[in-house]
Amino acid sequence: MKAVCWHGNRDVRVDNVPDPKIEQPTDAIIRVTATGICGSDLHLYDGFMPTMESGDIIGHEPMGIVEEVGSAVKNLKKGDRVVVPFTISCGDCFFCKKTLFSCCDVSNPNKELAAAAMGHSPAGLFGYSHMLGGFAGGQAEYLRVPYADVGPIKIESSLADEKVLFLSDIFPTGYMAAENAEIEPGDTVAIWGCGPVSQFAIQSAWMMKAGRVIAIDCVPERLQMARDRGRAETIDFSKEDVQERLNEMTGGRGPDRCIDGVGTEAHATGGLDAVVDKAKTALMLGTDRAHALRQAILCCRKGGTVSVPGVYIGMPDKIPMGAFVNKGLTMKGGQTHVQRYLKPLLAMIEKGDIDPSFVITHRRPLAEAPELYKTFRDKEDGCIKVVLTP
Ligand SMILES: NC(=O)c1ccc[n+]([C@@H]2O[C@H](COP(=O)([O-])OP(=O)(O)OC[C@H]3O[C@@H](n4cnc5c(N)ncnc54)[C@H](O)[C@@H]3O)[C@@H](O)[C@H]2O)c1
Ligand SMILES: [Zn+2]
Ligand SMILES: [Zn+2]
Repeated sequence: MKAVCWHGNRDVRVDNVPDPKIEQPTDAIIRVTATGICGSDLHLYDGFMPTMESGDIIGHEPMGIVEEVGSAVKNLKKGDRVVVPFTISCGDCFFCKKTLFSCCDVSNPNKELAAAAMGHSPAGLFGYSHMLGGFAGGQAEYLRVPYADVGPIKIESSLADEKVLFLSDIFPTGYMAAENAEIEPGDTVAIWGCGPVSQFAIQSAWMMKAGRVIAIDCVPERLQMARDRGRAETIDFSKEDVQERLNEMTGGRGPDRCIDGVGTEAHATGGLDAVVDKAKTALMLGTDRAHALRQAILCCRKGGTVSVPGVYIGMPDKIPMGAFVNKGLTMKGGQTHVQRYLKPLLAMIEKGDIDPSFVITHRRPLAEAPELYKTFRDKEDGCIKVVLTP
């Protein structure tokens, strides 16, 4: 089959690789019909994620048709149409039983590697390094889905792929980001980044009765989408000082809730901290550029909440812990517990409350993945979200 394979920094190729096979009785094989490129994939593309190996199949936003199921699979059969969450979860461990699916204790076969870096191992993820399981990813013609009774959600309506595809990741991720922000009715919510994840965080903040949503980025069409589709006020960090502007907009108090939808590859907004980050990551002395997270902590009002859906990898430094403690902030983050959100968010889509396809700017064949990675990374051609079709 054809699959998008990682071969090093800024080098992804569409290779011919062996088709996946059922390996465990709880596996299913799906024929992928649509698959997204995520901001998280850019962390692989840009070489930030350790334990990647040349030839690894990447991608973690797939959906498709079940081709084959293992002997122990009860909920799926050949021909079912499913969306597959990026988190691989056993459904039965201490964490899965608490619906902390991205913390599954069982699904990562390379637990020791992850535990050495993080203290404990999170769940295995599709197409996201050997430290997180070494599972083949979903930017491919076929995908092996472990724990097939726990992850995939069946789509029984005739909704087009592109309306349900983002249940695999970015819609639940934006939603959990807003939930983690502990929004109370009327709150002012500031969201760093206007990428796909933040676009869904904006939508979700309104669902949770935010009074005001302020979105921050520097890419004109992304800011425009936040205004037009997200009814957000916006700040262009390349033109304005974010902290000054947020203080001005909130009478000096700061936003009640701050969401870092940027993660480890934040661009500098003038601060010395960002310049130091850039030098350190370039010299391989650090893995993260945490400028947005630092700014979110500094801008957040006293007693407020900082929610972190943005992915960090190692040990970002210069985090203003003084501000965090003395201002009495709460911080929550995590890879999304996708399985927890599948049914309620699918119900919203089916009712017509939201059409997640609004973020898509590029629909292309899988074969064009290498070009599209570059287009998405460099935000060329107005690119906000890419969907590939095998
Ligand atoms: N927690 C999860 O489960 C989960 C799931 C999906 C994605 N993510 C992460 O969420 C983040 C966003 O994903 P995405 O797909 O929207 O990515 P993206 O790369 O398309 O969007 C990031 C946006 O942040 C903007 N940005 C950069 N520096 C900034 C700064 N200093 N201030 C404000 N904005 C800035 C960029 O211009 C870009 O528009 C990534 O880190 C990704 O890994 C996490
Ligand atoms: Zn993702
Ligand atoms: Zn589990």
